[in-house]
Amino acid sequence: MTEHKSKNFVVGITGASGGIYGIRLTETLLSLGYRVHLVVSNAGWRVFKEELGYAVSDREGLLNQLFGGYPGSLLYHPVQDIGASIASGSFRTEGMIIMPCSMGTLSAVAQGSSDNLMTRAADVMLKEGRPLVLVPRETPLHAIHLENMLKLSRLGVKLIPAMPAFYYGPTSMDDLINFMVGKVLDSFQIEHTLFRRWGE
Ligand SMILES: Cc1cc2nc3c(=O)[nH]c(=O)nc-3n(C[C@H](O)[C@H](O)[C@H](O)COP(=O)(O)O)c2cc1C
Repeated sequence: MTEHKSKNFVVGITGASGGIYGIRLTETLLSLGYRVHLVVSNAGWRVFKEELGYAVSDREGLLNQLFGGYPGSLLYHPVQDIGASIASGSFRTEGMIIMPCSMGTLSAVAQGSSDNLMTRAADVMLKEGRPLVLVPRETPLHAIHLENMLKLSRLGVKLIPAMPAFYYGPTSMDDLINFMVGKVLDSFQIEHTLFRRWGE
């Protein structure tokens, strides 16, 4: 494993369906030796409970269960902690990924609302010109969703919709999840073997 401990990534997990994507992304970045600053929205915690059956009354305990294997590398910031390191542009990070990204958070980022740590950290990426990747998950999409995405795309935000492909022969849910995480890592030019590339 290459040591990237001086490199900070911000990962946001919102209340869109597919919290498992954000968990897999966090695990993968940690396993690659990065430090992850994690923010989970209140709806994100709710989706963990609904979709994954996690007991979310003890949030820190759950995170320790999930990511305890990487001591010191996972920094969890409560979504209301607008004084956290990642709320400031002076704190250096490689970028932020919101995976999955709800239409609510996508809209708040597009409006620059910065009303909690999730949207503030995303706003910091925009103002500092750092990579911001959103993995939206909703269907069908209406005009406001599409307008918000277009606005963000024009600002340089990378939109990687949670749309796993089938050309690489996935046979399990894990394969589909890994494909999406791999596409996110590709956008940062991070080497991985999460899926078989076309032509390989
Ligand atoms: C089980 C569950 C699944 C949801 N799936 C989606 C979804 O795929 N996309 C979405 O935009 N909102 C989804 N929502 C609704 C959001 O959680 C809701 O709009 C919430 O206010 C978003 O807040 P956040 O952006 O702070 O996480 C879902 C809610 C629940 C409980």
